[in-house]
Amino acid sequence: MNIVLFYFSGTGNTEKVVKEWQKSASSFNVTIDLVQIEKNDFDFSNLIKYDKVGFAYPIHAFNAPENVWKYAKKFPKLDKPMPLFFIMVSGEYMTINHSSADKTKRILKKRNFVFESDYHYIMPYNMIFRHTEIRAFKMYETMLKLVPIDVKEYLVDGVPHILKKHHLVGWFIWLLRIEQWFAPINGKFYKINKKKCIKCMKCVNSCPTHNISYVDGKFKFSNKCICCTRCSFNCPTDAFSIFILNNWRVNKPYAFKDPQKEEKDKHPHYCKKSYIRYYKEAEERISKSK
Ligand SMILES: Cc1cc2nc3c(=O)[nH]c(=O)nc-3n(C[C@H](O)[C@H](O)[C@H](O)COP(=O)(O)O)c2cc1C
Ligand code: SF4
Ligand code: SF4
Repeated sequence: MNIVLFYFSGTGNTEKVVKEWQKSASSFNVTIDLVQIEKNDFDFSNLIKYDKVGFAYPIHAFNAPENVWKYAKKFPKLDKPMPLFFIMVSGEYMTINHSSADKTKRILKKRNFVFESDYHYIMPYNMIFRHTEIRAFKMYETMLKLVPIDVKEYLVDGVPHILKKHHLVGWFIWLLRIEQWFAPINGKFYKINKKKCIKCMKCVNSCPTHNISYVDGKFKFSNKCICCTRCSFNCPTDAFSIFILNNWRVNKPYAFKDPQKEEKDKHPHYCKKSYIRYYKEAEERISKSK
């Protein structure tokens, strides 16, 4: 079986998940070709070579990031139905997040892609607040245990997985897609602290939408920001400021290693119930698969 999995990852969490899908699938002799949406270099005439198409993305304000559904609009209408699945990655296991693929689904349905299965993995926040390394590692470890179960169930045994969704929420969250109008405006006012910046150009070179440029010794920001936070998150000197969202800024990649030491959790009650539910469901599935 050959799968093509289109993905976007702002700060690397979704990329970790899709690479795990690819690794796990290969152990079952299933090939997953990973295609980075931001590279925009996929030849759509090759779609017919595949048995299933997947989309993976981080949830942004309950929706898929704008570049994901815009990319879906580029897909041609296929002659034969093509099975479609989604992989969502987010900071919290809220049922409202499960409808984030609805818009992309509608776009692809018109092009003969038939929705089959969807998955939601919790990975640490790159916005709002920094999860502790202990929490981040638990999320990562759980994802590593869930992926082989999902891959086997779906790609080997042919059993789809459907996330629980609330009726009509898909339309409601479409109204909440603040990011689509807010991000380009907010991204125009990003600032760089000249005293802290070491001019490594990491932010300029890694922006998926080329929103940042460095001209005549000055950083300039365009109106193409999709609020992925890659620029500020990866800045080695924490010199980046993301305007209105600056108080929610998270800087520095997570270690994803067992920290082996106590760390004060400043947000122990935030979305507590949804995390309990996620780990309970995950543990049940993991123990059932043994
Ligand atoms: C602009 C923005 C909005 C977000 N909105 C949500 C949200 O609505 N729900 C949620 O659970 N996580 C939300 N997150 C957190 C990310 O989905 C989460 O950190 C994810 O793991 C990031 O994946 P990535 O590293 O592949 O970009 C948001 C992150 C950003 C940057
Ligand atoms: S990533 Fe940070 S240090 Fe590097 S150029 Fe950008 S703002 Fe400066
Ligand atoms: S400017 Fe920063 S947040 Fe906006 S799209 Fe580029 S990397 Fe992402």
